[in-house]
Amino acid sequence: MRTVVIITGASGSIFGVELLRRLPGEKLAVLTKWGKMVLKEETGLRPADVAALCDGLHSDEDLASPLSSGSNPFDAVVALPASAGFVAKVACGLTDTLGTRLCHNALKERRRLVIGLRESPLTSIALENAARVSREGAIVMPVSPFFYLKPDSIDRLVGDFVDRVVQAAGGDPPPEGWRRSELARDASPGDAKPDEWKTSDAAGRAASDPWTTE
Ligand SMILES: Cc1cc2nc3c(=O)[nH]c(=O)nc-3n(C[C@H](O)[C@H](O)[C@H](O)COP(=O)(O)O)c2cc1C
Repeated sequence: MRTVVIITGASGSIFGVELLRRLPGEKLAVLTKWGKMVLKEETGLRPADVAALCDGLHSDEDLASPLSSGSNPFDAVVALPASAGFVAKVACGLTDTLGTRLCHNALKERRRLVIGLRESPLTSIALENAARVSREGAIVMPVSPFFYLKPDSIDRLVGDFVDRVVQAAGGDPPPEGWRRSELARDASPGDAKPDEWKTSDAAGRAASDPWTTE
């Protein structure tokens, strides 16, 4: 599996860095000009540190990079974090940097593209741009960590989200899933509920039951 990770100048460079640590197979990286700045600001890391985590760090200004050509295959391109400006360029088909060119290549070659948009609040423009790339086949995965695995640290919070990005990029599913150990249990959903969720009405019927579909 060959994955190219683009780290842009949106907040949350740590997500892109952690993705490089966790991705299987060959990984290549592109840091945008503002990606370098925000990386230094938020993590203290420099491009050389990113280079040490991957098999090749390519310059975002280098449109003569072999990565610029659709003839050189990859399995997935992941922009994480992706700025609103970056997504706007991809949505319009602008390819004036290696990162935007790579996203364009992924779309035109019908290869996997994951866009980890990071901006808040979002303008209608950004929402429409995200919808546009999504319709074109990209997986839009806003940097939006979750809490159901009960992270006890920022590292854990970041890692849990990044595991889902690895999965979206075509890697293995996360090592842990919500109540995954119960998947193979021979039990009805009601039986599998934690006791604190079990609330019954007078007829003994489950009330306020998150599993009830009627
Ligand atoms: C500290 C810092 C944090 C930023 N965070 C965001 C952000 O979360 N989302 C965003 O869209 N832009 C953010 N920006 C602005 C982008 O860096 C700017 O739009 C830049 O042009 C993005 O270029 P790039 O996509 O080529 O990296 C931030 C800038 C700085 C300096």
